[in-house]
Amino acid sequence: MEEKDLASVLEIEHLSFPNPWHESTFRGEIQHRPISFPLVIVHETLDRVIGYVIFWAIGEDVQINNIALHPDFRGLGIGERVLRQIIAEVKFRGARLITLEVRPSNTAAMSLYKKLGFKMIGIRKAYYSVPPEDAIVLGLRLGDVP
Ligand SMILES: CC(C)(COP(=O)(O)OP(=O)(O)OC[C@H]1O[C@@H](n2cnc3c(N)ncnc32)[C@H](O)[C@@H]1OP(=O)(O)O)[C@@H](O)C(=O)NCCC(=O)NCCS
Repeated sequence: MEEKDLASVLEIEHLSFPNPWHESTFRGEIQHRPISFPLVIVHETLDRVIGYVIFWAIGEDVQINNIALHPDFRGLGIGERVLRQIIAEVKFRGARLITLEVRPSNTAAMSLYKKLGFKMIGIRKAYYSVPPEDAIVLGLRLGDVP
């Protein structure tokens, strides 16, 4: 992700979340390397940003902070493919645990993470505000991934 991607990223963010990240948050992620990995998913034929993933890698721990696909490109296997690539890459680089937070009402995301082997490791009470909801904390131990 670079400055030039921010218009597309913000459009997707606003189409995806009721309480979207502010532009300054994305800018901060772009500038916070080396722990932050803000990636865009680009449709090669259309040469267009259709999604993004932001994760932090700190020692053996990886935290996925944001992932979204443009609504026109959901349900095509892209989110799963991208996450599988990230899991393989961070495992190769020595990560042992990937965590993330998700709304329990987000059935698409919940079933994607379950399919990838994530397990519930905690609940953060009243974590989300718009609309109010607890967060489920999911974790994937990379020793468990073949
Ligand atoms: C969550 C998200 C990233 C998934 O990406 P995607 O490319 O649409 O998902 P995929 O097509 O790769 O689907 C992979 C698996 O996810 C699950 N899934 C995806 N869409 C689903 C839906 N609408 N309903 C139920 N399960 C769904 C399924 O388990 C699916 O596997 P299957 O095809 O074998 O059933 C995407 O829906 C999205 O951008 N949502 C809005 C933003 C968001 O909620 N981000 C997550 C915040 S924690």
